[in-house]
Amino acid sequence: MTVVLQISGLGKTYKSGHKALSDVDLSINKGEIFALLGPNGAGKTTMISIVCGIVTASAGTVTVGGHDHAQGYRAARSMIGLVPQELHTDAFETVLATVSFSRGLFGKPKNPAFIEQLLKDLSLWDKRDSKIMELSGGMKRRVMIAKALSHEPEILFLDEPTAGVDVELRRDMWNMVRSLRERGVTIILTTHYIEEAEEMADRVGVITGGRLILVEQKDELIKKLGRKTLTLNLAEQLEAVPAELADWKLELAGDGHELVYEFDSQAEATGVPSLLRRMTDIGVAFKDLHTRQSSLEDIFVGLVHGGGDEE
Ligand SMILES: Nc1ncnc2c1ncn2[C@@H]1O[C@H](COP(=O)(O)OP(=O)(O)OP(=O)(O)O)[C@@H](O)[C@H]1O
Ligand SMILES: [Mg+2]
Repeated sequence: MTVVLQISGLGKTYKSGHKALSDVDLSINKGEIFALLGPNGAGKTTMISIVCGIVTASAGTVTVGGHDHAQGYRAARSMIGLVPQELHTDAFETVLATVSFSRGLFGKPKNPAFIEQLLKDLSLWDKRDSKIMELSGGMKRRVMIAKALSHEPEILFLDEPTAGVDVELRRDMWNMVRSLRERGVTIILTTHYIEEAEEMADRVGVITGGRLILVEQKDELIKKLGRKTLTLNLAEQLEAVPAELADWKLELAGDGHELVYEFDSQAEATGVPSLLRRMTDIGVAFKDLHTRQSSLEDIFVGLVHGGGDEE
């Protein structure tokens, strides 16, 4: 695997004295989709802004495609595209001029055919002669994406790309991310929609209080930290969990109509068959049962509000 982005010991203390990032180490592989998850104020935008040269780091190093950020900044930056969280564009320019100009900023030769295709892919071609200020919010966001891709970057940062975006643009955006990945583009995104990370990402990182507390393959994470819940819909209402079932630490739910058992699906003995046998033995009948695997969201909430705040 080729590492395209290497972040080591990165730290940021803002002038206000606020420590927004502490000692972050992260390697990003070529062609992966990496989702950075974290609550508001965790340091996600700060980290992205440092890599994109908008904010200067207080500590640490960044290497992009082998170019050291400090020494070879222009080479490093030209490999990166950024769709920022806050939208700001030149309101009086046209879509076509803005996007073409953006390509030139990175020293790339003019390529009208490429820009045309890019605008078509983002459903902006019909709007190419409109001034940015005349566009809707969603279209402005499309322009930001076109700008970020105008110089054919190898790494694309999407900072909250789907916040406040309608279903259609969201779907377009994810199709675009997938097709960029197929072309070998590396994508790093932040999102508050965890189901999005669950669907899209190869790896996830969880950041809270300026610290990257976990980086893991998404599938591994769900397997490792995931719990399963078995819910039994009872034939008859119970007042309490029968004493004979105390070993399983069950919970009575649904107004006495459900027994809920949480277990580790990776364990050798889950306790499920023995529980069902015991229930039959003592005459507690059930009508139906279902199991649920915990989602990335459950894991995330547990990390950020549970284990993550030990400092
Ligand atoms: N220019 C600045 N000056 C001082 N403090 C800042 C500045 N920019 C950000 N911060 C602070 O640094 C912390 C991290 O902010 P950052 O924008 O990186 O968080 P975030 O994870 O992107 O949050 P969100 O999910 O809300 O976008 C916050 O406490 C924020 O108030
Ligand atoms: Mg942010």
